[in-house]
Amino acid sequence: MPNHRHAYRAAILHSLADPAVVGSEASYAYFEDGILLVEDGHVRQLGHAAELLPQLQGVALTEYPDALITPGFIDSHIHYPQTGMIGAYGEQLLDWLNTYTFPTEMRFADKAHASEVAAIFLKELLRNGTTTALVFASVHKQSVDAFFEAAEALNLRMIAGKVLMDRNAPEALTDTVESGYADSRELIERWHGKGRLHYAVTPRFAPTSTPAQLAMAGQLLREYPELYLHTHLSENRQEIEWVKALFPESSDYLDVYHQHRLTGPRSVFAHAVHLCDAQCRRLAETGSAVAFCPTSNLFLGSGLFDLRAMERHGVRVGLGTDVGAGTSFSQLRSLSEAYKIMQLQGQKLDPFKSLYLATLGSAQALYLDERIGNFAPGKEADFVVLDYQATPLIRYRLQQSASLAERLFALITLGDDRVVKETFAAGRSVHRRDG
Ligand code: GUN
Ligand code: ZN
Repeated sequence: MPNHRHAYRAAILHSLADPAVVGSEASYAYFEDGILLVEDGHVRQLGHAAELLPQLQGVALTEYPDALITPGFIDSHIHYPQTGMIGAYGEQLLDWLNTYTFPTEMRFADKAHASEVAAIFLKELLRNGTTTALVFASVHKQSVDAFFEAAEALNLRMIAGKVLMDRNAPEALTDTVESGYADSRELIERWHGKGRLHYAVTPRFAPTSTPAQLAMAGQLLREYPELYLHTHLSENRQEIEWVKALFPESSDYLDVYHQHRLTGPRSVFAHAVHLCDAQCRRLAETGSAVAFCPTSNLFLGSGLFDLRAMERHGVRVGLGTDVGAGTSFSQLRSLSEAYKIMQLQGQKLDPFKSLYLATLGSAQALYLDERIGNFAPGKEADFVVLDYQATPLIRYRLQQSASLAERLFALITLGDDRVVKETFAAGRSVHRRDG
C-alpha cells in the first residue's frame, strides 16, 4: 500500500489520560464533526472537519452520519478455547473448571478444531469492536499456532500463549516442566514479534503449576525480552484458601508469583478481586497490571472488584471479558456491568473512565500505548464506528440526551455488538455489520 491515505468523517472521541488522575474533562478529546486521516495503516491526523477537509482534496473520504468513531476496544483477558462453553450453568470457579472448562479444552489437541474455534472467536471479537486481546489458548501448542495463524491473516495486534499446567488437572491437559518449556520456546521463536503478534507465558494459575514450573515460567521471561506473563490471581475465596494450602511459605497469593519472579511490566493478573493493601502496593511497585473482568466476576459469583483501591495504589488496570466465564464478548457490556459493580460498592463509574478502561487504559496495562489505545498521530489505525441508531431504543434514548457524557453513558449501558457498525484494524475494514 504505497502512501495510501483515507479519511473518515464522523463524531470522534478518544481518551488522552486516566480521568482518575487528570479529571474527567481533561481525560478526552472530542470532535463533533471530526476527521480521522489514516495513512498506511497509521493515524496521520485527527481534527475538525471544517479545518481538515480543505487540505484533503483528492483523498478518499468515508462519511458516517449519526455515528461515533472511537479507538478499537482492547480485551485484557479472554480464553479463546472457551468460546463454545460461554454461559455454562450453575457453578463457581473450581467446580466450573472441572465440570465444563477442562473437558472443553481437551478438544484443542485437534488442530482442525482449534482453527475452527479461533476463526469463530476472532470474528466475534471484531463484531464487538475489539481489535486487540490478551488471550489464553489451551495447553496444546497447536492451539496457539491455530490462534496466531488466524490473527496474522487479519493483521490484528494480539497477545497469546500456551497454558502451562503440570498438576491438579486431568492428565490429558497437563504438560511437564520440560515439555512446557520446550513447547513455549518453540512458540516464542515462531510467533513472538512476528507482524503484530506477541507471546505471553501463560501458567493457568498457581494451583495448577508446581513451584518448579512457575520458576521455569520466570526463566522464560528472562530469556526473551518483551514477553508477557498472563495468569489468574485472587478470583474466588475457595481458590485463595487452596493457594494458601499449596504454598504455605508465601505471604499471600501474589507473593507466590512474585517469589517465582513473575511480577513486573507486561505481567497481567486476571481478576484480582480479593486483594489486601500490601498486594496492591506490590502490583503498583512492580509495574504489573490487573484485568477487571466484570461479567465473569458476577457470573461465577466471584466478588466485587475494587477499582478505587487500584486507583489509590496506582495499579495499572485493563478491562477483560474473560469469556467463557464472562458472558459477553462486548466491552460495552463489560462496562455496563462494571458500573453496577461500582454501584454495589457505593461508587460511580464516570463514562469517560469507562471509555479509558476499554481503550487507552487497557493499552497502558499491556504496555502497548505507544502503538494503540487512542488516535495520537503515528499510532496504528485500529478503530470502531459506533451506530447512534443501532436499535429503536438506542436511537430514541440518544435523542433525549443533551451532553456527550450522557450519550456515551447511554450507549455503554444499552450497547453491545449491535452498536458496532464497522471495525478497522491497521486501517483495513475487518468487520462490517449487515444492514
Ligand atoms: N482460573 C484458572 N483458570 C481459569 C479460567 O479458565 N477462567 C477463570 N475465570 N478463572 C480461572
Ligand atoms: Zn480467565
